[in-house]
Amino acid sequence: MSSDNQLANKSQAWSALFSEPMSDLVKRYTASVDFDKRLWLADITGSLAHAEMLTAQGILSAEDHAAIQRGMAQIRSEIEAGTFEWKLDLEDVHLNIEARLTELVGIAGKRLHTGRSRNDQVATDVRLWLRSEIDELTKLLTGLQVALVDVAEKNAEVILPGFTHLQVAQPVAFGHHLLAYVEMFARDAERMTDLRRRVNRLPLGAAALAGTSYPLERERVARTLGMEGVCQNSLDAVSDRDFAIEFTSAATLVMVHISRMSEELILWMSQSFGFIDLADRFCTGSSIMPQKKNPDVPELARGKTGRVVGHLMGLITLMKGQPLAYNKDNQEDKEPLFDTVDTLRDTLRIFAEMMGGLTVKPEAMERAALRGYATATDLADYLVKKGLAFRDAHEIVAHAVKTAIGTGVDLSQLPLAELQKFDARIEADVFEVLSLRGSLNARNILGGTAPVQVRAQVARHRERLSA
Ligand code: ARG
Repeated sequence: MSSDNQLANKSQAWSALFSEPMSDLVKRYTASVDFDKRLWLADITGSLAHAEMLTAQGILSAEDHAAIQRGMAQIRSEIEAGTFEWKLDLEDVHLNIEARLTELVGIAGKRLHTGRSRNDQVATDVRLWLRSEIDELTKLLTGLQVALVDVAEKNAEVILPGFTHLQVAQPVAFGHHLLAYVEMFARDAERMTDLRRRVNRLPLGAAALAGTSYPLERERVARTLGMEGVCQNSLDAVSDRDFAIEFTSAATLVMVHISRMSEELILWMSQSFGFIDLADRFCTGSSIMPQKKNPDVPELARGKTGRVVGHLMGLITLMKGQPLAYNKDNQEDKEPLFDTVDTLRDTLRIFAEMMGGLTVKPEAMERAALRGYATATDLADYLVKKGLAFRDAHEIVAHAVKTAIGTGVDLSQLPLAELQKFDARIEADVFEVLSLRGSLNARNILGGTAPVQVRAQVARHRERLSA
């Protein structure tokens, strides 16, 4: 045990100053390698860019550079093959890789950290890692939008009761309803693209907090790494996690949209609605009730939304009391960020697939739309077009609806003579207006639910999404 500790202490970069070894508990408490090893590729990429620049600046020799490149290639293949030995004693991904490098190539490995600190190193790694995850998530957001547009196009004519307050309001095209979600996911993708610019800036060169006395060429490293610029203040560079919060906030909105959609899918699949069916592979049964088919995937997605909201709160709280510059608190940024990415990736993938397996039940939707006097506004509009003021028309139609409710029929089922008692200007052409389809077609305005508008939006989205 004690010889173990001695070994561990020896392997730590700061060991000379310390007179006693870290206890196992503290070691476990402070180490991050179990989770931050996930950053390994970003760590190697960042180190190679740093080494390349050190060499160009004459700080590292060409031989050292070649040794570092060779060692890193070896480490990369070891990690990919699963033979790399991650050591808790070496605390984190950075020290693990650096120690192995030194084991492999000797003194050149010890020179790599010149002009660098783990503080600017970790900030660089997280940014590089997140950048590639954002690219993947943006593609998945496109995939989900395409899947929704496909279903929307097929259902441009299918009539759904549109709700406000969850009460039948006006008929809408089911395709129109789905395209509302496409708008949300389009904004989400836009947000990802926008915040990516702020993720994609280089902290390296800030060193521990104050910059470094070596003549580093930070712009060169940024270019090598495909970054859009360098962080302009060293204190900010090592301590800033705004980019992680911004990302998690955008991710939270994605999940909020997913969660709203989930809630609707769950409602629509319930026996009381019966508007849709989800493919069996997205549902589960009950161990006790043989008749059950539960919409587990949307339910779970709705649940997982809470978890991503929690990560956002966690990250904001993590930052709120931190003085400049780097503090160990920042090590706590990783798990929420990783879990947010994982949750988002799986959810977006599964939802795109689930849309492909959606069964739509147009008769049930139309029947439900007919039950709620969904065309009452159309009758009011009809009277306005005959010269009435809207408020007066609204009142007249309220009386008509009351009568219809009393006799248990739809407005369109009242005889013309009956309707004319409410206003003499009502003529036979009213029945087209009172039909669900007439109501839908009438909303032929940009952004409206008329099928011709829905098709125009489908075309616009297709063009946008294929660009
Ligand atoms: N594992 C650390 C983190 O994730 C790396 C930076 C450590 N820096 C330090 N000065 N202890 O934040």
